[in-house]
Amino acid sequence: RPFAGGPARSGTEGLVRPRRLRTTAAIRSMVAETTVQPRQLILPLFVAEGLAEPRPITSMPGVVQHTLDSLRRAGAAAAEAGLAGVMLFGIPEEKDARGSGAVDPNGILTVAIEAVRDEVGDDCLVMSDVCLDEFTDHGHCGVLTDSGVVDNDATVEIYAEMASLHAAAGAHLVAPSGMMDGQVAAIRATLDADGYADVAIMAYAAKYASAFYGPFREAVSSSLQGDRKTYQQDPANIREALREVALDVAEGADLVMVKPALGYLDVLAAVRHAVDLPVAAYNVSGEYAMVEAAAAQGWIERERAIDETLLSIRRAGADAVLTYWALEYARRSGVAR
Ligand code: PBG
Repeated sequence: RPFAGGPARSGTEGLVRPRRLRTTAAIRSMVAETTVQPRQLILPLFVAEGLAEPRPITSMPGVVQHTLDSLRRAGAAAAEAGLAGVMLFGIPEEKDARGSGAVDPNGILTVAIEAVRDEVGDDCLVMSDVCLDEFTDHGHCGVLTDSGVVDNDATVEIYAEMASLHAAAGAHLVAPSGMMDGQVAAIRATLDADGYADVAIMAYAAKYASAFYGPFREAVSSSLQGDRKTYQQDPANIREALREVALDVAEGADLVMVKPALGYLDVLAAVRHAVDLPVAAYNVSGEYAMVEAAAAQGWIERERAIDETLLSIRRAGADAVLTYWALEYARRSGVAR
């Protein structure tokens, strides 16, 4: 002992040294508490009707609106990389006030679900967005009353019809994202009545009215004027999120989601502790665009920023993460399911 015979304690004797566990990559890796694995990642994919070539989305470098052919290939790549699944969003050629394309059996999203399911079978989950905003000419997530407000109950009926159509087309899981009251219960009842008891529901349970969906509007060629504050949540609220989550669990959700992710990690952690269902988080378009834009300027290290983003969302409590980087991350990490 260096100080034997001296004072009982010197400046360094008995010092606790947490840095010992950080000395090499091997020891850091051994004590890492959180991991991000391809099987925990879901890749959102956009498919547009009537496209001859995939169309780049300017505000989301590296992300495209797919043709049916390129969508099939993207689905196959997701399965190959061991991802949990793909989340499909459809963009119709024609939009109208009622979003009719959403309940057209030959509509773009239905056809896309069929194509991807045919391609991947059960190797990777085929998930579908149940919402009207991609299909309406006014861009709202539901149909409007004569006075122009979103008609909750009429919209929920359409969601239920849409979900059943998606299930018939081969969706393993449907994801209602419109934040209408009672949407999960209505969808569950219709799926069960139509013979799709095994089709799961991932509820966008706590979805905030967020500026971080900006690039998504371009991705789905949205014509929305104004905002969604009468149906999506106020960013100021967390107790309200727990209430929304409890309602969706009671209505029969199989998984619940928090969205966006990064500005809402506190909400995610609270939801993780409040429920015993799997929890997902959506790393949204604006969160993607910020990293890509800063990296393109050389202002941050792109891959490190991506890894840290995904890790933070997992550490806060997400079992599954929806992210536009899913495929790239899976290929880079080299961990297969
Ligand atoms: C609605 C929906 C939106 C997103 C997913 N589903 C847009 C919105 O609510 O305005 C946003 C996803 C993203 O920004 O990456 N169908």
